[in-house]
Amino acid sequence: MSIGPENILILTGAGISAESGLGTFREKGGLWEKFDPMKLATPEAFADDPARVLEFYNARRANLADAKANAAHFALAELEQAWMMAGRGEFTLVTQNIDDLHEQAGSANLLHMHGELLKTRCQACGHLYTDAGPITHGAPCSACGKPHGLRPHVVWFGEMPLGLDQIYRAMDRVDLFIAIGTSGTVYPAAGFVQEAKKLGAWTVELSLEPGEVSEIFDEGIYGPATEFVPEWVAKKLA
Ligand code: APR
Repeated sequence: MSIGPENILILTGAGISAESGLGTFREKGGLWEKFDPMKLATPEAFADDPARVLEFYNARRANLADAKANAAHFALAELEQAWMMAGRGEFTLVTQNIDDLHEQAGSANLLHMHGELLKTRCQACGHLYTDAGPITHGAPCSACGKPHGLRPHVVWFGEMPLGLDQIYRAMDRVDLFIAIGTSGTVYPAAGFVQEAKKLGAWTVELSLEPGEVSEIFDEGIYGPATEFVPEWVAKKLA
């Protein structure tokens, strides 16, 4: 008897990009250990000292320039491809990451709920464009010409994450929810597992170590993403 469709929703966090050399936030030596997020990743911080905030994100853009997608990113792109080709069900990839490594690996149905580091947005007119270079403090927007309005298109603490309606629509039909490389500390992302479980999905935490909401997951797989994500995908596609 043929099995029905299996709709997959995957949530990734900084841990999936750790082995590509990009830092995580809350681990030893993590970004928020070196920098105070309240001074760099809030709208108030940007209003108060835009030059300092831009310097921080320009440095992260430069850091991203030579980062490469790793085996875990590629495995998820392969799973998406195979799932869609075989018509096995829906596949939605939601990332909290602002890097472009999922894109580099070929992921298509991808949603950056915390924005994208390589995009610049004008606060005055909303003009949004890809820009891997540094944002110069005070530079005029190429669309409206207003200066001092350019910021990285990333979601700061206290701002609404992007695409939530799309995410919850996909969540409504999810059969399998996997959280990869995220500590489960920042909401609403950390609440997705609860939501998925309520809707009857099977839930898997795949990370280096159990996160803050690990006891909610049905299944836990702990170890480096570049080892365990490809292995998990291979089993899923077998
Ligand atoms: N393989 C798999 N998981 C890993 C690896 C690895 N090689 N290295 C670290 N991890 C796991 C850690 O165990 C941890 O659970 O990745 C997680 C990283 O957690 P955080 O640093 O808190 O990152 P994340 O969960 O993505 O943070 C969420 O917080 O600061 C905000 O907007 C920022 O999107 C970020 C959000």
